[in-house]
Amino acid sequence: TQKMIDQAKAVMRKNDRGLYTVPTQGLYPFQWNWDSALSALGFAHFDEPRAWTEIETLFAHQWEDGMLPHIIFHQPDDGYFPGPDVWATGRAVPTTGITQPPVAGFAVRRIFDRARDKALAVEKARALLPQIHAWHQWFFANRDPQGTGLVAIIHPWESGRDNSVDWDAAFERVPTEGVEPFTRRDTSHANPEHRPTDEQYKRYIWLVQKFRSLGWDNSKLHDASPFQIVDPGFNAILMRSCADLADLAESLGETQIADQSRAMADKGIAAMETLWSDAHGQYLCFDRSIGALVDSPSIGGILAAFAPIPQARARAISERIKVLAESCTYLVPSHDPTAPEFDALRYWRGPIWLIVNYMISDGLEFAGQTAVADRINRDCLRLIEQGGFAEYYGPIGAEPCGGDTFTWTAAMVIEILS
Ligand code: DGY
Repeated sequence: TQKMIDQAKAVMRKNDRGLYTVPTQGLYPFQWNWDSALSALGFAHFDEPRAWTEIETLFAHQWEDGMLPHIIFHQPDDGYFPGPDVWATGRAVPTTGITQPPVAGFAVRRIFDRARDKALAVEKARALLPQIHAWHQWFFANRDPQGTGLVAIIHPWESGRDNSVDWDAAFERVPTEGVEPFTRRDTSHANPEHRPTDEQYKRYIWLVQKFRSLGWDNSKLHDASPFQIVDPGFNAILMRSCADLADLAESLGETQIADQSRAMADKGIAAMETLWSDAHGQYLCFDRSIGALVDSPSIGGILAAFAPIPQARARAISERIKVLAESCTYLVPSHDPTAPEFDALRYWRGPIWLIVNYMISDGLEFAGQTAVADRINRDCLRLIEQGGFAEYYGPIGAEPCGGDTFTWTAAMVIEILS
């Protein structure tokens, strides 16, 4: 146990660039939004000031409108595509122009609650509180123009689940005409069989060019995007962070932020009911551009357990995971192994991601579904034993996939073992 913790710390130290960490060397040489927030949880166990720094650096690059960008390009690096020139967001320190799952509210509350240095925690949390709150408000202002209580992503990279089966049908409506020629760099760092396809990359870039042509004006992007998906996993992270921020704000005596955060969380959790599918026993994505649920049994609808959803839903998700366990060796696969689109080793079309496992397990544990929560945590450690600190793993053979010595995988191991 201690040996595994020490190995995990070594991975985090290796990827530490002082004020931020890279997810892994080579493949991802900058600061990624949700990677950083989740990695801070790992740092908090052995270096609290460093954990706070990770999140502070992230928010130092928040946009004036409240958006927290998905990548911060702290230093030039030719090994990544698409780099700052493609995004052209015009920031002094370049960033992308889209966002990522808003897990920072959850992370800050957790680090605050367990802090050994309470004075430092109060100081840091007090400063971050309005910044995180502004990001949450940004979501509802810019990604929920009709006031449904749920927000849409406008690019698959925002979900973090880049090539999920969930986006396949919607991606048919994203054109590829006019995409400037490019050379991928990810496939020279990782096995191309484990990565998204060229066809998907063209569509990723078409969307970037489209938003760039609108000057990255967030008041225009949602309505102009042919890709508008309400992802239950993404929304669950937002609702959980809003609820956690409400609690944190209360303990810091910030009642206005507390009340506003609570209201956003309550409304969103109520609205999540519209995404529930009895047929699948889980939540589904909703394709806002055509007004229909997406018939795709992916992990997005299971990750929803991270939010304080109704007990009956958490119980049903637990049952759903037990069914998934019948068709794989390790939990939780990012897509149903019995579905025709399942691809055991290809990024988000089958493989297991420890950060997602951690969030599902955390939510289920809170809901009293401890047996399934424990099984998920045990599987995480079995995967590390089999495959080291990989980016993701095959759910049947435990194959290590994508990048290696991966920061947030290491952070999750420290979380689980500490
Ligand atoms: C990538 O480059 O693969 C990232 O997932 C985009 O954020």
